[in-house]
Amino acid sequence: MEKHHKKKSILLRRPLVSIVVLLVVILALALGLVFGLRGRHQNNNTAGSDSGSDFAEAWNQPAEFLLSKNFSISRTPTTRYYEWTVSQQTIAPDGLERPMLLVNGMFPGPLVEANTGDRIIVKVTNNIVNGTAIHWHGMFQNGTNWMDGTVGVTQCPIPPGQSFTYNFTVPNQWGTYWWHAHAASQYIDGIYGPLIIHSPDEPHLGRYQEDVIMMIADHYHIDSGSLVTWYLSPDSEGTEPVPDSGVINGRGTFDCSGDSQALFPSGNKCTNGAPLSVFNFKAGTTYRVRIINSGGFADFQFSIDNHDLTVIEADGVDMQPVQVQRLPIHVAQRYSVLVHANQAIGNYWVRALMNTNCFNTPNPALNPNIEAIVRYEGAPSTQTPNSADWSSSAWVAVCVDLTLDMLKPYFTVPVPPADVSYHLDVSFQTINKEHINLGYMNQTSWRPLMNDSTLFQSQRGIGTFDVSSQLVIPLNATNGVQLVLNNLDEGSHPFHFHGHVFHVLGWGHGNYQPGVTPLELVNPLRRDTITIPAYGWTVVRFVNDNPGMWAMHCHISWHSESGLLVQFESLPDRIKSFEIPEEMKSMCASSKA
Ligand code: C2O
Repeated sequence: MEKHHKKKSILLRRPLVSIVVLLVVILALALGLVFGLRGRHQNNNTAGSDSGSDFAEAWNQPAEFLLSKNFSISRTPTTRYYEWTVSQQTIAPDGLERPMLLVNGMFPGPLVEANTGDRIIVKVTNNIVNGTAIHWHGMFQNGTNWMDGTVGVTQCPIPPGQSFTYNFTVPNQWGTYWWHAHAASQYIDGIYGPLIIHSPDEPHLGRYQEDVIMMIADHYHIDSGSLVTWYLSPDSEGTEPVPDSGVINGRGTFDCSGDSQALFPSGNKCTNGAPLSVFNFKAGTTYRVRIINSGGFADFQFSIDNHDLTVIEADGVDMQPVQVQRLPIHVAQRYSVLVHANQAIGNYWVRALMNTNCFNTPNPALNPNIEAIVRYEGAPSTQTPNSADWSSSAWVAVCVDLTLDMLKPYFTVPVPPADVSYHLDVSFQTINKEHINLGYMNQTSWRPLMNDSTLFQSQRGIGTFDVSSQLVIPLNATNGVQLVLNNLDEGSHPFHFHGHVFHVLGWGHGNYQPGVTPLELVNPLRRDTITIPAYGWTVVRFVNDNPGMWAMHCHISWHSESGLLVQFESLPDRIKSFEIPEEMKSMCASSKA
């Protein structure tokens, strides 16, 4: 195995562009045939839109994304029960029809809304051809690690045709979360939705009157499984598939004409002028806008023309209010911002601009300006906005988070000492023989277990894990853990840690020098998904007080699929006494078949 970072210089990369585009075209054309057939075959018994021109046929219920005033924010615990069916359905989120994987036929999927202290029960029935699992992104799952929904780590996939019921409580957290499939790259095909936890103790509760969700995502015209196959083949040379468009709450628009035509699967119907999401605002009202990047690859810069954004939350952690005009948000991150409807009655663009600088290659079909509309009551409903983008607020060309001095938690939590410290190198390496580019955490490229999970293995006490595909770090004592993450790659990586929030002590470009580079130890940012800059570093700490097997991975789907995932085996003695439902073990038996 030859070590070799995916270190192509800009100059070197350019001549590759045309080759890569050509390959994408060939791939698209080849898959077009497959999709045309499969789409028609599998969808004649679903309720999905089979006519790209009938946009009135809803595949989502945008009204749900304005949170209802009827929801009572309370301290009295209750149980929230949901029944979901995952199925394949052909819809046209941006005007181009393609088979998607949806929960209850909705895109985005159904809202889960609860109070701190509630129990959430979700019965998931799998009606797709592959196994699936649902992860509750950001939920601590303290004491219920097996409900984390991560294939190969905490469970085996729910087999096709079967159901599994997730059941957990939310004792001590609130804020903006989301749920998504955690089986291969399935969430990119549509299996995601918002998860909102309220509490009377939220410090900013009195500052707004309305509460609205904007789920922002890149969107692909080819199913993610095919794209992963291409990405992990020698043809890609490690170049990630670039999105074809983007959606806000499941809606975007794609130019079906001209050169773009060559780039989508042939035979799929494409209609120009697909409608965008519209958010109805009332003048004088303050909105809490919960922005969730539910995409697979792209980092966005979010803004609303003429309207300042006051950040009050990051990944479920309340922040001291800070005003921005443009908000960078990487994959899987969330922010709440306050938006005061204090402008003239009219229509304004909501902009989620994909940072294409962070792609390895351009996609000529992609319009990276993903838009929605804020429409004041009294403004013409036929009018598209003529508002202008902020000129005063600079576009940030690199894919990095807001600086640490801007994101100060509202509540201080003491930073744990670094009782133990681990170095984790993030890299891409080419396997010499096959010329396949894989992601590595130190010297391990993760491949999910198929008929088992590392949690079950830990409980059975297998002792050692196969380090060629499972980098598992045992954490035996309840103490402070420091991680020094070094990114040896040319791309930035949004790393998510299941079951925890990190204290983010610092990040930067170049190398972290222990003892020299200053770290923030007083009330540093806490969140569950952090961007490690290209050729940069990040230092985090957390308290090892949540027993279980916890994944930490790059949330860019292509990268976790290529192996950028490490696991922490927290308090293995406590794992031994977990009472994991028997039916979870039997799902492993069926995935063998
Ligand atoms: Cu959003 Cu491993 O998760």
